[in-house]
Amino acid sequence: MQRQTLYNLHKVQTEHIDSLQSFEIRDSDIFLVTYPKSGTIWTQQIIISICELAGGLNEYPNNLKQMPWLEYREDHGDYSLRPSPRFFASHLTPTLMPPGLKDKKAKLIYVMRNPKDNIVSFYHFSIKSNVILIDISYNCAVAGGSWFDHIREWHTKKEQYNILFLTYEEMILDLKAAVTKICTFLGKNLSEGDIEQVVEKSTFKNMKKDPKANYEFIPQDKISGNFMRKGQVGDWKNIFTAAQSQRVDHLLQEKLGDLSLKFIWE
Ligand code: A3P
Repeated sequence: MQRQTLYNLHKVQTEHIDSLQSFEIRDSDIFLVTYPKSGTIWTQQIIISICELAGGLNEYPNNLKQMPWLEYREDHGDYSLRPSPRFFASHLTPTLMPPGLKDKKAKLIYVMRNPKDNIVSFYHFSIKSNVILIDISYNCAVAGGSWFDHIREWHTKKEQYNILFLTYEEMILDLKAAVTKICTFLGKNLSEGDIEQVVEKSTFKNMKKDPKANYEFIPQDKISGNFMRKGQVGDWKNIFTAAQSQRVDHLLQEKLGDLSLKFIWE
């Protein structure tokens, strides 16, 4: 089978990306932004489960239909016609996002993951899905661009947005605390029992068998079922050589050292 690039696969159209510059934002919009393989579909499940329990959600057959990718319009129709509340996932950087997001009313959740685990997850996803995530014709660009640029751009521009930063690692460490944090940020007042329910629905084990959340609904010839692999912190230790690990540490220092970010995996 011929390998495809992620962008070809999703038929990303430059006209659509350009049109996002005039995309109208609603105060009730909720955006989830990540670098690919950082825990997007996990956070998607948490956000949707919270909002489902809080009430007033429109019915969709699965999480992708409920929270489509902003940049991969595919068959989700005209986003401007979607009823509120609207949810969007995205891997875009601030420059390509709708400028209206900067009025600080719509909410944006950004999830970051240890780049070493991110690389490992990306690698397995790419191999298993038969989707090449590196587009050689495009200056060896990886889908999502550079991890370092993504982190830098979103962190340096954070003041312009109504944004909550989370890490994959803190979600693994204490899922209930992360769910509670997201709940508070979204202004949803859930009972203790409801929060427990969201946690239950979002565990790796339960999500893997949840047909609305596990992405097995995507046709087999695409990337079906490859989103939920191990769901662990530190898998990079099974794969990286000491030299590779040091290289990432060095790059982290070189490219993001000035931002004084606190990385929870340290
Ligand atoms: P691994 O490949 O390391 O297992 P994304 O949704 O951004 O593509 O990220 C996919 C990664 O998130 C995969 O990591 C996947 O297993 C992990 N993941 C998905 N659901 C999860 C969950 N409920 N708990 C923990 N990790 C989860």
